[in-house]
Amino acid sequence: MKERILVTGGTGYIGSHTVVELQNAGYEVVIIDNLSNSSADVVDNIEKVTGIRPAFEKLDCLDYDGLDGVFAKYAGIKAIIHFAASKAVGESVQKPLLYYRNNLGSLINLLELMPKHGVEGIVFSSSCTVYGQPDQLPVTEEAPIKKAESPYGNTKQINEEIIRDTVASGAPIRAILLRYFNPIGAHPTALLGELPNGVPQNLVPYLTQTAIGIREKLSVFGDDYDTPDGSCIRDFINVVDLAKAHVVAIGRMLADKQDEKVEVFNIGTGNGVSVLELINTFEKATGVKLNYQIVGRRAGDIEKVWANPERANKVLGWKAGTSLEDTLRSAWNWQLKLRERGIQ
Ligand code: WQD
Repeated sequence: MKERILVTGGTGYIGSHTVVELQNAGYEVVIIDNLSNSSADVVDNIEKVTGIRPAFEKLDCLDYDGLDGVFAKYAGIKAIIHFAASKAVGESVQKPLLYYRNNLGSLINLLELMPKHGVEGIVFSSSCTVYGQPDQLPVTEEAPIKKAESPYGNTKQINEEIIRDTVASGAPIRAILLRYFNPIGAHPTALLGELPNGVPQNLVPYLTQTAIGIREKLSVFGDDYDTPDGSCIRDFINVVDLAKAHVVAIGRMLADKQDEKVEVFNIGTGNGVSVLELINTFEKATGVKLNYQIVGRRAGDIEKVWANPERANKVLGWKAGTSLEDTLRSAWNWQLKLRERGIQ
């Protein structure tokens, strides 16, 4: 009997790649998504990649009764991977209440319903933003949690606390918190990838849209930081490698191998790469010249952050393996495929 996993936000960028890897690992997947930042044809594309069509329910996780109904309809859900959230740093500054209501309310609904439906555990999509600008690099899970730079980052911090307090209260559930760094790239089939609504906020989708001519020029937000080339440094991690970390976490949870009821892991490569280095790597990997300009800093940007992934490597038994070159080629192939399909 295949173990059934609920994936909220499963038609989104990281969610859809994770559904593919869960199916590849033999799990049965139920997707919940309100399609506010993705489209239902992602379900078709997941089926094209794996040959298995996941169950899909169009639903907002803020809809308690609707959520309750999904747990009842798909009896025996063993665990949840919770991606569904609003995630644009800049937008969260403009619309804080939307972010607090959506990102906190959705999690609270799920945590309330888990014991009622015998759901054992939750893998939570957290973020390196909880660290702010770390005092020491690479950053470990023991680094102090600093005051968030945005309401988005604050919702991630509060979500982690909500989970810890719920488990500490004696609720019969376990949790694994995965703190992502910067997910980039697309599935090797170019059938899945990042498809932001409107003008991309994140670096790589804006970069590939510039390379294909949708955007006129990429703006590099600042080259006066205290880094070797002056541009910000990040830990860019391949989205498929990131998806595989979730499968490993689910396996650990369901095999009851957790050392503690709540575990935290940095999911990064451990390599810091600057914005300008990434641009140069893209040009080398694809042969495509990029039109970019240096402009002023973007408010709220962290200067430099990259992971110490040793705990995930040793305890979780997971390691990022895809090169930056291959990852950027996958992002470019995805952009070309979108053009071919007439989507962008
Ligand atoms: C990366 C670097 C920019 C765009 C955020 C969230 C994180 C996660 C990913 C959701 C920065 C520079 C960017 C551009 C640029 N969110 N940049 N020109 O801000 O590191 O992380 O998004 O999953 O939790 O915090 O990602 O891609 O926006 O920026 O120069 O057009 O690229 O200044 O240095 P960020 P990003």
